[in-house]
Amino acid sequence: MSKRFIIISNRLPINITKRRGEMTYKKSAGGLATGMASFYEKYESLWIGWPGIITDKKQEKESIRENLRKEDMVPVFLSRREQENYYEGFSNKTIWPLFHYFSQNTIYEQNYWETYKKVNIRFAEALLKFAKEDDIIWVHDYHLMLLPHLIREKLPASTIGFFLHIPFPSYELFRTLPWRDDIMQGLLGADLIGFHTFDYVRHFLSSCRRLKGLDHDLGRINWEERIIKADSFPMGIDYKKYHGSGLKREVKKEMSRQRNRLQECKLILSIDRLDYSKGILQRLEGFNKFLEKHPEYREKVTLIMVVVPSRSRVESYRRLKHQLDTVVGRINGVHGTIGWTPIWYLYRSLPFNSLTALYNIADIGLVTPFRDGMNLVAKEFIACKRNGKGVLILSEMAGAADELGESLLINPNDIEEIADAIYHALQVPEEEQKNQIEEMQKNLKRYDIIRWANDFIDTLIQNKEHSESMLVKSIGRETTEFLVRAYRENSPRIMFIDYDGTLVPFSPAPELSKPDKTVLQLLKKLATLKNCTVVLNSGRQKDTLEEWFGSVPDLNLCAEHGAWLKKAGENWNTIETLNQDWKNEVIPILEKYAERTPGSFIEAKDYSLVWHYRKADIGLGEVRAHELMDRLVALTANLNLQVMEGNMVVEIKNAGVSKGRAAQEFLEKKHYHFIFGIGDAYTDEMLFQNMPDNAHTIKVGFRATVAKYRIKSYKQVRELLQTVIKEGLNEKTT
Ligand code: UDP
Ligand code: G6P
Repeated sequence: MSKRFIIISNRLPINITKRRGEMTYKKSAGGLATGMASFYEKYESLWIGWPGIITDKKQEKESIRENLRKEDMVPVFLSRREQENYYEGFSNKTIWPLFHYFSQNTIYEQNYWETYKKVNIRFAEALLKFAKEDDIIWVHDYHLMLLPHLIREKLPASTIGFFLHIPFPSYELFRTLPWRDDIMQGLLGADLIGFHTFDYVRHFLSSCRRLKGLDHDLGRINWEERIIKADSFPMGIDYKKYHGSGLKREVKKEMSRQRNRLQECKLILSIDRLDYSKGILQRLEGFNKFLEKHPEYREKVTLIMVVVPSRSRVESYRRLKHQLDTVVGRINGVHGTIGWTPIWYLYRSLPFNSLTALYNIADIGLVTPFRDGMNLVAKEFIACKRNGKGVLILSEMAGAADELGESLLINPNDIEEIADAIYHALQVPEEEQKNQIEEMQKNLKRYDIIRWANDFIDTLIQNKEHSESMLVKSIGRETTEFLVRAYRENSPRIMFIDYDGTLVPFSPAPELSKPDKTVLQLLKKLATLKNCTVVLNSGRQKDTLEEWFGSVPDLNLCAEHGAWLKKAGENWNTIETLNQDWKNEVIPILEKYAERTPGSFIEAKDYSLVWHYRKADIGLGEVRAHELMDRLVALTANLNLQVMEGNMVVEIKNAGVSKGRAAQEFLEKKHYHFIFGIGDAYTDEMLFQNMPDNAHTIKVGFRATVAKYRIKSYKQVRELLQTVIKEGLNEKTT
């Protein structure tokens, strides 16, 4: 069967209302629906969501279900209570304000959270009735953040994308959410997590790291046998539709009607949903200030302010409506004249033709949100400008500001700046307006809504393939049997085994990674197997290895990534004569970094120096590590040293030293028929690279590797080694 494409969002792209017993279905022509349309040709598609109506009547629900089925839509019905706690409550009184940096409006309420969970489960159930493992599933927005994980639990191999249409806040705000871990886990169920801007990606990755200890590699996170990608996809608009609007007869008619009404006045246009994040009051104060500072513009400008009713059952939205009415009244009262009203205030939604007529004729677009995930109004305003006339004043806090750099960017909290920007916008020469608009239109045309949706889905599919290709080499029952057979049939044998992250979990505090009883038992048994040489291959200092493993009979120890070697029954020796003079030059530099980076420290090994930053602030540690690498690479080029960036460490050592080099010490002296190497870190890659082709190399974890196989974690490593021991002991007794 062919792949299916399933979209799931809080609202369906249709709104059902009931008046005097009659149901009306109104399709939304929103951007998302347009973007999705391109997939309808490629895949069998389905859209799951809330149909916009609350009903308890079974018959009504059935009839809606049937009617929507014809449109490839599936309704999820919610009760009034659920709407209150899940949509108005957790979504719009908790997440929306918090993610828009309005912590003063954020309500933490257990009831809301419980219902949010329940409704997310309801959406998941609705989807699972239809979804199969090879479908492509795209989950949208903050109402459904638990969904990716809920789907993943039931359909582990499915392809799931998630897109957040609002900002992802900085960790400092996100951490205040009592249910932050559940939200994070919910999102991490996806294969691709998309945001509008790179800043939101950064914030998300930083929260992943701080809450879950998850590191990333160019936005790729390894988590539970999957590779999850976080990336930015700035949502576009239906450029053609908006750009062509001014050619439509109805729009032209509306344009001349509005122009006539405005007479000679310049038109400033402001359009938003009624939302405190949009900065509407401040914008009005900015306009007021402009009129105060430039009375010569009285009767010469008009601000048309379209405010679309939104979430009116939520107290903070209702409050804003009252404030807005008062402020508009005040400004019109103070500045208005008999023939001139400074602000035309429309509290309603406008249809496409009226909206684009305004976009087309407006001289200034005034868009000043305190925070906005993207802000499509700003893009639509620019797209409509066929005659190259118009200036956009845009808040730098809107996601769209990244792409509309030729607009007049303002700080929405700065009322003076808004006032000055309005004045400045009125002075911009036409030639300059044209150049700026054309530049911005180029971007909007290129990355339109279709491109956005395709880009997201292509990346989702690619990432899924990448993730699967990494798993191909995963060790399962068959590979284990193959390895055990190889062990049985080939002798003599040698096994190189890394310690941290391989036999014990990688710990951010290595002092906690002492070997437990199981590991000691395991090594003891392994090292005494017949015809099997075992080398414990670690980056640790020789004294530590000596203390922990010195008494294990027949075990070979390799310390400091190969600088020191202790063959079973012999003393510690360096592999070659190593020089330590360079340390005097490098230590002062490391000390400087340790002083400047609280929590970081230096570890001095015999033949290497390590700067650790795992206890420092993560962001700061990384920045400093990059700086340090730059400094050291230049300095060490002449000193025959290597500088390596590892897991929250920067390590400097003699160029010749590596686990691979140490392995040669054994491999050159005797011919082994079974060669085995296992490890989790970048230093183990040197071992894998230096091994003969017939060696069995195994990477622990999901980072990139040259090893032949991969194994999930230290637990599976222990199981694998136990199986080898069983085989080896069998051999002894037979
Ligand atoms: N919009 C509309 N009619 C109106 C006002 C706005 O259809 O009267 C549309 C507008 O064209 C835009 C969307 O509503 O596509 C608002 O999106 P935006 O990203 O600007 O803000 P949001 O409401 O998503 O926070
Ligand atoms: C924002 C959200 C959307 C939401 C829209 C309208 O754009 O990201 O998910 O649909 O606002 O809000 P509403 O609460 O009416 O759905």
